[in-house]
Amino acid sequence: MHPITLSLLGILLLPLLTIPVHANVEKTIFLGPPATTIPSEAPDLDDLGLERLTPQNGVVRTQVNASFPSAEAPDGTESWFFLENLTPGQRYEVRICWLATQPTSFTLTTHPLPTTLEDQTFLTSLSKFSASRLSSPDTNFQTNALNRNTNAGPSPDPAPTTSSVLFLRVRAAADYFSKDEALMRDVPPVAVDVILDPFLWNAFPRSLVPTAAWVVVVAVLAGVVARWVVGEVGRVIEDARVEREREMEGEGKKEK
Ligand SMILES: *[C@@H]1O[C@H](CO)[C@@H](O)[C@H](O)[C@H]1NC(C)=O
Repeated sequence: MHPITLSLLGILLLPLLTIPVHANVEKTIFLGPPATTIPSEAPDLDDLGLERLTPQNGVVRTQVNASFPSAEAPDGTESWFFLENLTPGQRYEVRICWLATQPTSFTLTTHPLPTTLEDQTFLTSLSKFSASRLSSPDTNFQTNALNRNTNAGPSPDPAPTTSSVLFLRVRAAADYFSKDEALMRDVPPVAVDVILDPFLWNAFPRSLVPTAAWVVVVAVLAGVVARWVVGEVGRVIEDARVEREREMEGEGKKEK
């Protein structure tokens, strides 16, 4: 085979060599709410034991409980997270990523502090979640996953008293059918990454910047390669044409 055909083949086959990672993503996009004074009569937010995400510490790897949709919980089991140190008016997205081997359908919603604490349904769900977390034998669940950096280090992370904060409600509904009765009765917890991602210039998720840079590099490289391939192919065709003309001339001479 011609070396150019080979390299072309290589370029075409390259995507087949990359190993696909099957993961699913669900997300919600929202604006940082205006700063609210955290009401002093509210249960101490730190005592709720929710996992907290901040723009400085935006990734939490954890497990959430899921259940099959039911009449009381059509979207499955609820889990709560706390988003804090947001910038009012700044655009953010929260993503949840989970493995395709745990088919689940997630619904993400964000809720401002005052409405959550005033709404009986939310408050009940939140207290229930908080209570089962705090009573969990896993000590990781009994405290905030994120350690507050109270001394004035490079990124002080003090407990906010007035701050732009939101509750994140994650509903997880199992989305599979199995012949395994145990699996149909008890849905195993789903391993997830929850990611809080500020948008750059309110337009572009910050964590995707390296990916975008990479796409640009690949595009430029592809352009250069394409140009080279077109040049080479042109040269080969030209060579073949010259060759053929020469042959024809030779044949013509023979005929004479
Ligand atoms: C998750 O489910 C397990 C088993 O049913 C339960 O013990 C635990 O309390 C639940 N966790 C939360 C946070 O609801």
